[in-house]
Amino acid sequence: MDKYIVFGNPIAQSKSPQIHSMFAQQTAQVISYARQLATIENFKPSLDELFADPSAKGCNVTAPFKEQAAQWVDELSTGAQLAGAVNTIIRQANGKFLGDTTDGPGIVQDLLRLKAVNQGARILLLGAGGAARGALQSLLALQPSLLLVANRTESKAQQLASLIPQNNLQACGFSDLVAQTEPFDLIINSTSASLSGELPPIADNVIASCGFVYDMSYSDKPTVFLSHAKQLGVTRFSDGLGMLVGQAAESFYLWRGVRPEVEPVIAALRAEL
Ligand code: ATR
Repeated sequence: MDKYIVFGNPIAQSKSPQIHSMFAQQTAQVISYARQLATIENFKPSLDELFADPSAKGCNVTAPFKEQAAQWVDELSTGAQLAGAVNTIIRQANGKFLGDTTDGPGIVQDLLRLKAVNQGARILLLGAGGAARGALQSLLALQPSLLLVANRTESKAQQLASLIPQNNLQACGFSDLVAQTEPFDLIINSTSASLSGELPPIADNVIASCGFVYDMSYSDKPTVFLSHAKQLGVTRFSDGLGMLVGQAAESFYLWRGVRPEVEPVIAALRAEL
């Protein structure tokens, strides 16, 4: 039986085993998928050990090992090179290990599923950390007229935008957003502020005038950012549960060559939150 593992620390909370087991059932694939706690010291040896077993065909990697995983693999996809991070390792037919990142494709799949974005959209991406970096290239592939990265620490936004020099990718600090007179079609919150129940300090009118608000975080009730947007009159919004399932679906596709249906899996996870 082909074997897969997700590594992380912590890892007990990971929904990946459940998601992949639903995908496998749905597509009649016979696989095993387990979670494994690792430490900074033993992560790379754990990969060596896993892949010494020929039935191990791939793994997922979550925080805090995505950068280490990028160093371990033989080859990196262009997306993983740009992100400097790997969340999916694939054992290829030639025996080499490919590192890819499916977070970007995961969010784009979800935005398209939600009909949250069209070509030529004006997109505001809040945050310039690992989550923003992982999504950048995929968001640009949507051909927005503007992808504006805004961050509390402006220099980090500038640094991120400089990775892909193109006119429609720009950067600024939060306070500069008041100068944006044209509304955004989509605002994506990639900051970790939601995790601590905080709001990124964005001018209310920027949020209120936006067509769709997306938070990469998710929980059983709307995140603080989504509740705030709702209070300001935004009617179209979503949390990031679909992104979680979308990135898993992309990993599953890379390993198995089959695209699972995400909708029933999102619904099942939502019911359990
Ligand atoms: P992740 O991998 O989740 O992106 P990260 O790389 O640590 O985590 O990045 C966290 C992001 O959330 C950064 O953009 C951070 O802003 P700074 O670069 O200024 O630190 C942002 N962030 C975290 N807490 C925030 C808060 N309370 N308000 C606004 N931005 C916040």
